[in-house]
Amino acid sequence: MKIGIFGAGYVGLVTGACLAELGHEVICVEKDREKLSCLQAGKVPIVEEGLDELLRRNRQLGRIRFTDSSEEAVKNSKVLFICVGTPSLPDGSTDLSFVLQVAKEIGVSLGDDFTLVVDKSTVPVGTGEKVTEAIKQVAPFASFEVASNPEFLKEGTAVKDFMEPDRIVVGVESEEALKLMKEVYAPLIEHGFPFIVTDRRTAELIKYAANAFLATKITFANSIARLCDSWGVDVLKVMEGIGLDSRIGRAFLNPGPGFGGSCFPKDVKSLVYESKKSGQPQTFLEEVLRVNDQQIEYVVNCLEKLLGGLEKKKIAALGLAFKKGTDDVRESPALKIVNRLREKGAEVKAYDPKASENALKILPWLEVCSSIDETLQGAEGVLILTEWDEFKEIDWAKAEENIKGKVIYDTRNILTGEKLRQLGYVYQGMGRK
Ligand SMILES: NC(=O)c1ccc[n+]([C@@H]2O[C@H](COP(=O)([O-])OP(=O)(O)OC[C@H]3O[C@@H](n4cnc5c(N)ncnc54)[C@H](O)[C@@H]3O)[C@@H](O)[C@H]2O)c1
Repeated sequence: MKIGIFGAGYVGLVTGACLAELGHEVICVEKDREKLSCLQAGKVPIVEEGLDELLRRNRQLGRIRFTDSSEEAVKNSKVLFICVGTPSLPDGSTDLSFVLQVAKEIGVSLGDDFTLVVDKSTVPVGTGEKVTEAIKQVAPFASFEVASNPEFLKEGTAVKDFMEPDRIVVGVESEEALKLMKEVYAPLIEHGFPFIVTDRRTAELIKYAANAFLATKITFANSIARLCDSWGVDVLKVMEGIGLDSRIGRAFLNPGPGFGGSCFPKDVKSLVYESKKSGQPQTFLEEVLRVNDQQIEYVVNCLEKLLGGLEKKKIAALGLAFKKGTDDVRESPALKIVNRLREKGAEVKAYDPKASENALKILPWLEVCSSIDETLQGAEGVLILTEWDEFKEIDWAKAEENIKGKVIYDTRNILTGEKLRQLGYVYQGMGRK
């Protein structure tokens, strides 16, 4: 099937590459010139496991190409996916301007044949109607329908998540739309991955409800971790103890520096905003956001206590990405913590295997090192902020020669405290004894 994708970011690029891999003919429209030339030159502008290989193969097979022309994509596609950003506005509502701009561009070029426009961007309930309206304004007689197909991929494992989904959710308003969506996902449906069919508004809410629930789970774990810190209890045992209950489940119960990334914070804020507007305020989600914000200060205060102050303290921050496996630093708690440490007078050096460049765009003053060794040199305290595997491999006996103070605060609980204490380190995990 001929498919057009609007927006070649984390979601659009992965969706495009994976749909090409499933055998479709894909055109991706990208308006960012730098990103587009990178893609047209055969390079991949984001870090995502397996994506380079997928793009190389499908490009060679002629199944995926990149353009800045909306018209080219609309004229050559039966199904169009909207995968542009939906950032937060200052009041927490969702900025739909990119989505509605794409809707207009689609409308301008729609022909006589039926076209299915699929919203894959995360959008508030009722956006399907707004997109329909925006298209109708420029193309009142065009034959089209707007469907919802929220995306659940996780950065770091995005390709795998797309190709082996827990479920595919499609919100459609007609049999014709459903038939096309089934064709798009035919190989995955045949493979037996759950395919949930619903109306458009339900599909839109499923995405927000899923993210709000996951953000709540993380926040719950962080909240219990703080209790563990003050009661001398091991949070990992507590999470194991509750997570083995099949009604609860162990996933997303890992305490850390708070949830971040381009989705959870903005999606929870959006649901809070929209729910208030609708007269059914989700006040517990406001609390989730508040507790998550507090986690930054909690980490900074714990480190301050461990070091006996922060003023002029040399700190090695390991990790800047909001989680491992990605170069994405949007809403990364690591950046917020590093920033706060600087405000409190600490001298921070940081290292991240993939996200340094992106971090410097947000914190240009940050001293970013090119290796772990360089970061640890002269440090009085080490702060683990992202759970990269390579941080688990650090030889702390050797590192001792370079470090000035042997204090480690491991907000991701990836190191073994017992071993480190034997080496003479003061080790503190998040909610660990
Ligand atoms: N990143 C994730 O993990 C993830 C997961 C699930 C859902 N989502 C949702 O998917 C959507 C996209 O997220 P993302 O992380 O891929 O964003 P992104 O910022 O990485 O990508 C969006 C891309 O759209 C491009 N763009 C903007 N306007 C355009 C236009 N008119 N025509 C063509 N391209 C245009 C931008 O240049 C950018 O490259 C958001 O709604 C997000 O909430 C994201």
